[in-house]
Amino acid sequence: MNKTENKITAIKGMPDVLPEQTLQWQYLENKIRNIMQAYAYSEIRMPLLERTNLFARSIGEVTDIVEKEMYTFLDKNSESLTLRPEGTAGCVRACIEHSLLRNQQQQRLWYMGPMCRYERPQKGRLRQFTQLGVEAFNLPGPDVDAELLAICSRLWHELKVQDLVNLQINSIGDLSSRNAYKNELLQYLNDNINALDEDSKRRLHSNPLRILDSKNEDMQALIANAPILLDYIDAESKEHFAKLQELLIQLNINFTINPRLVRGLDYYNRTVFEWVTDKLGSQSAVCAGGRYDNLVSMLGGPQSYGVGFAIGLERVLLLLEAASLQVQKSIDGYLMCIGDNAEKKRLLIAEELRTLLPNFSLETNMTGGSFANLFKKADKSGAKVALIVGDDEVQNNTISIKFLRTEGMQQTVAMNDVQSILGDLK
Ligand code: HAM
Repeated sequence: MNKTENKITAIKGMPDVLPEQTLQWQYLENKIRNIMQAYAYSEIRMPLLERTNLFARSIGEVTDIVEKEMYTFLDKNSESLTLRPEGTAGCVRACIEHSLLRNQQQQRLWYMGPMCRYERPQKGRLRQFTQLGVEAFNLPGPDVDAELLAICSRLWHELKVQDLVNLQINSIGDLSSRNAYKNELLQYLNDNINALDEDSKRRLHSNPLRILDSKNEDMQALIANAPILLDYIDAESKEHFAKLQELLIQLNINFTINPRLVRGLDYYNRTVFEWVTDKLGSQSAVCAGGRYDNLVSMLGGPQSYGVGFAIGLERVLLLLEAASLQVQKSIDGYLMCIGDNAEKKRLLIAEELRTLLPNFSLETNMTGGSFANLFKKADKSGAKVALIVGDDEVQNNTISIKFLRTEGMQQTVAMNDVQSILGDLK
């Protein structure tokens, strides 16, 4: 066996995130946390593994995710478990299990974490990817739909990618109007049965709406001429949709109505939406969501309203790259100790500095070198100041400070004065 055969690599579509990339991740995650705080949403954390039937019952048996994309296995107890392909089902399960929706309690929740789908990996499409999910419960009106879209819009503006994304909205009505539409659609598809591909023929009776989502080029003309769901929706859904549009206009959030948007998961009703981009090739959806007023009761909970969205964070990072955002590593100080006495005490001095300067990030040089060499390392570390301790400084309990990014002489100060000079460096 040669060396390369022996090498263990990561699983395809499940990439590592290296330190340089974690800077971009932390930048994005911090923005998200601040925004969720600003809208007073609370964080919820669900497990990675759930019982398989949770997803079959919520996302739907005849969907791409459940039919083809789930990482499902039997555990040692022969129970079928699945690595979560999305967060809404688990979030609803947790809310029911812990009675968070009892007595029509309102909840505004968010979560961030990995999801797994067995899809063909390509740019913007991974087998392990990260979603920010936001879910709001027991708020029936369109205001909360608009609030969720305002959260997205604020995030795009904060990240300065607002010009790279477009909002598409649609309403798929309630169940009865969807059934009426389904009959019309079935009639149309049956009249054109020879134009259907194999996948679509299979779905004709189980889930004909999903046929409209087909990416098959040969079927696009057929899909373009199909009856439109928006023409069949019930009066209340129509009103909800009209009010949502008014609110979006009031909030200055641009949108287009896409009457073909039906979404690939079965739990939706009324509002559905996607934020799309043309910067990521065929993976155009950066964020997607909608209303799901029947999901909680479908999963055994009390009748509750629900609406939410999820953003694919790897896709957002690709957008940041397209917008040329680069987050550089930045630390506050680089400590260099020169001379036997100072070198022996460098860890002690570093600890003393950390006590004096809370929230100050400090890297300690541990390998020594010439003065010039140490300054080169300090510069490369990205530090704002170099902190220099020689044997004289040890003797006198002082420290020398040199600002690396602005003009100014090196100054030597008493250790106790460090706080007044560097305490508000941020
Ligand atoms: P979804 O459309 O399946 O909806 O996924 C939401 C977003 O996750 C997509 O728009 C995309 O940005 C990202 N995403 C999905 N699959 C991948 C992948 N293989 N690689 C990278 N990114 C991906 C949901 O998951 C629903 N739970 C959204 C929702 C929340 N609806 C209501 N509440």
